Amino acid sequence: MPALVLLGAQWGDEGKGKATDLLGGSVDYVVRYQGGNNAGHTVVVGDQKYALHLLPSGILSPGCTPVIGNGVVVDPSVLFSELNGLNDRGVDTSKLLISGNAHIITPYNVTVDKVTERFLGKRKIGTTGRGIGPTYADKINRVGIRIQDLYDESILTQKVEAALDGKNQLLTKVFNRRAIEVGQVVEELLGYADRLKPYVADTVLVLNQALEQDKVVLFEGGQGTLLDIDHGTYPFVTSSNPTAGGACTGAGVGPTKISRVIGILKAYTTRVGSGPFPTELFDEDGDALRRIGGERGVTTGRDRRCGWFDAVIARYATRVNGLTDFFLTKLDVLTGWEQIPVCVAYEIDGRRVEELPYSQTDFHHAKPVYEYLPGWSEDITKAKSFSDLPKNAQDYVRALEEMSGAPISAIGVGPGRDETIEINSFL
Ligand code: IMP
Repeated sequence: MPALVLLGAQWGDEGKGKATDLLGGSVDYVVRYQGGNNAGHTVVVGDQKYALHLLPSGILSPGCTPVIGNGVVVDPSVLFSELNGLNDRGVDTSKLLISGNAHIITPYNVTVDKVTERFLGKRKIGTTGRGIGPTYADKINRVGIRIQDLYDESILTQKVEAALDGKNQLLTKVFNRRAIEVGQVVEELLGYADRLKPYVADTVLVLNQALEQDKVVLFEGGQGTLLDIDHGTYPFVTSSNPTAGGACTGAGVGPTKISRVIGILKAYTTRVGSGPFPTELFDEDGDALRRIGGERGVTTGRDRRCGWFDAVIARYATRVNGLTDFFLTKLDVLTGWEQIPVCVAYEIDGRRVEELPYSQTDFHHAKPVYEYLPGWSEDITKAKSFSDLPKNAQDYVRALEEMSGAPISAIGVGPGRDETIEINSFL
C-alpha cells in the first residue's frame, strides 16, 4: 500500500516536477489533488523540456496512469491544449482519468478573478488570473459546475443560472462590466462534453482499489505549504489545500493509507505574487539567485522574489504536513558564495521567535536572524552520491536537515533527470 504525497514545503516552485519525474518509472498512478492550471511543473526528459500546468507529471511516464482528482479545478480549454501539445510530441495521453466531481473553471470565473484583482488595487493577491479562487468560492458556495454536470443539459443550465444570478449583479453593478449570458456559457461548456467523456471516471474507487492491490500511488501537490488556504500566509495564498491533508480530501483516500509525505524544499527560498517573505533579498544576491536559478514562473512568466533559506518555514512545513522526508532541490544554484546565510529564527519587535508566528501582524514584522554557513566553489552538478559533494556542501545539507526536522533523502544538483543524489529511496 505505498501511497506517497509529494508537496512543496515553501511557497511553491520548489522543483516538484523533477522529484515526481525521478519516481515516475516506479509509480503506477500520479494524482493531482488540488489547484488547477495555476501550477507549473517543468519536467526535463532527455533533451525535451515539458511545461505542465494542469496535467499530472505522470502523463510523461508510459506505465503510469495520471489522475485529476475531485479536489482539482479544471479549465477544459487549457486541458485540451495541454493534451494537444503532448500528442503533437508523440506522448500518449489516453490513460488520463478525471474525477466527475472535479469542478470546472468557467469563463466567468476567469473574468471574476481578473476584475477582482484589478478592483483590489495595491491590496491585490497577485493571483495567476486563471479563475482558481472564484471557482473554489463557487464550490464552497454550492453554485459550482462539476464535470459530471456536462452530461445533463437541464441540470447544467439550472446550475449556470444559479451561478450567474449573483455574479451578473456584481459584474454589472459593481465592476461595470456586461452581464454574461447563461445560454452562451452552457453552449461553450457542452462543447467540451464529448471530448472529456472518455477520461471521466470514479477516481475515488479506482485509487482505493489500486491501493488495495499494492499499486504505488503518488499524490502530487500544486503550489506549496505556505500558499495553503488554511495553513499558509492568508490572505496571500491560493484557494485550496496543497498540504498533506488535501491529498485525502482531494482524492478521496483516507489518511491511514498515506505511507510517506515528502516535502520538496529549495536550497533557498522564492515566492511569486504578494505577501510576507522574511528572507527576501532586494540586492545583488537576490538578482544572482534569480539569474542562476532561472527563477521565472512557468505559468505566468513573472520574475520570482528570491531570498535565503528559511528554516522556520521548513520546520513549520514538517509539522503541518507530518513530513517523513525532504527532497532538497537546486543546491547547485548556491555554488560560488563564500558564505551562505540561513535564517534560523525571526526577530519580531525585539523578541527572538523560533517558530512561525500564528499572527499575521507578527509575521509581517518578522526579520530574519541569520547564521552564516561556509560556501563552496566546486562544480557539484556531476555528484552522484552524498560523499561526492564538497565538505561545505555536505555540511550545508546536514545543517538544513537538522534545522528542518526531517531527513533529506534526495538532493537536486542540476536541472536534468539524472542530476539527483538519492540518499534514501522513497519506495
Ligand atoms: P491563485 O492560485 O491564482 O489564486 O494565486 C494565489 C497566489 O498563489 C498568488 O500569490 C500566486 O502567485 C500563487 N501561486 C499560485 N500557483 C502557484 C504556483 O504554482 N507556484 C507559486 N505560486 C503560485
